[in-house]
Amino acid sequence: MSAGAARRDPGPGGERRIMCMGLVCLDIISVVEAYPAEDSDTRCLSQRWQRGGNASNSCTVLALLGAPVSFMGSLAPGHAADFILCDLRRYGVDARHAVRQRDGSLPTSVVIASACRGTRTILHAHGNLPDVTAHDFEKVDLSQYKWIHWEARNAAEQVEMMRRVERHNRSREAGERVRTSVEVEKPREELLELMGLGDVVFISKDLAQHFGYHSAPEALRGLRSRVRPGATLICAWAEEGADAMGPNGELLHSDAFPPETLVDTLGAGDTFNAAVIFALSEGKSLQDALTFGCQIAGRKCGIQGFDGII
Ligand code: FRU
Repeated sequence: MSAGAARRDPGPGGERRIMCMGLVCLDIISVVEAYPAEDSDTRCLSQRWQRGGNASNSCTVLALLGAPVSFMGSLAPGHAADFILCDLRRYGVDARHAVRQRDGSLPTSVVIASACRGTRTILHAHGNLPDVTAHDFEKVDLSQYKWIHWEARNAAEQVEMMRRVERHNRSREAGERVRTSVEVEKPREELLELMGLGDVVFISKDLAQHFGYHSAPEALRGLRSRVRPGATLICAWAEEGADAMGPNGELLHSDAFPPETLVDTLGAGDTFNAAVIFALSEGKSLQDALTFGCQIAGRKCGIQGFDGII
């Protein structure tokens, strides 16, 4: 499926949505035959602008999978933000909770994508854009959402947001609760508290390696005590696939599904998260969700961008 064909309807028949909260930025992607030497002058195979950011990429994939999806995050003032809003709209991602900030500039990544090795080297500029706050999140009507996913960023505020969802859930029947997930990608100490809050916690290979683990199952066993009882911990490990530890401590694994030719790995992790969330929110088993996540992430690595993932 491509952007034009993505579902635009904001949850027909009162269907509850999935929200992803976190970064939206501009990715300026230069595809080169091989990663250039320092101080060289290289002609690109192609160059494009693409809406990026983990939460925003996950929204794209969820929309392509057919989920009613909303993005919540900060938008910079100025024209560049129009590109972002237009593109969210193009994919049918609801952006009513995107917060237009008065200060800061659009976070931008310059990405060097090496065609021969499939690597993506990211140079990210943060743009001093303030993140959305728990106060902004108060405006979200939680009854409209079946799942809210956080990309770990401003942890103190995000903890408050997640606590709000916990309070909301306490007075709701099981079928009306909002399920939550959080992705902790960067090994920053202040983000780790968030691992103790979501129903599903995604940790990155980077984070696992930062803690000294050499494989996903090792990381899951070692970090299990940081998630709350009954939560699921998931760790993807590039070409080795992904592992999960379910609520009862059972370890599950899916192999990777590498494409015939590795084309573009930018956003593969965000794709994996989105596909797992999609499958779980549709009631699939953890094993099926893990396998689906690896399949869709594998397909993403075989194409430029996200169009054609389905
Ligand atoms: C990919 C990505 C890019 C963005 C960068 C920010 O996962 O979200 O789209 O430029 O990471 O760290």
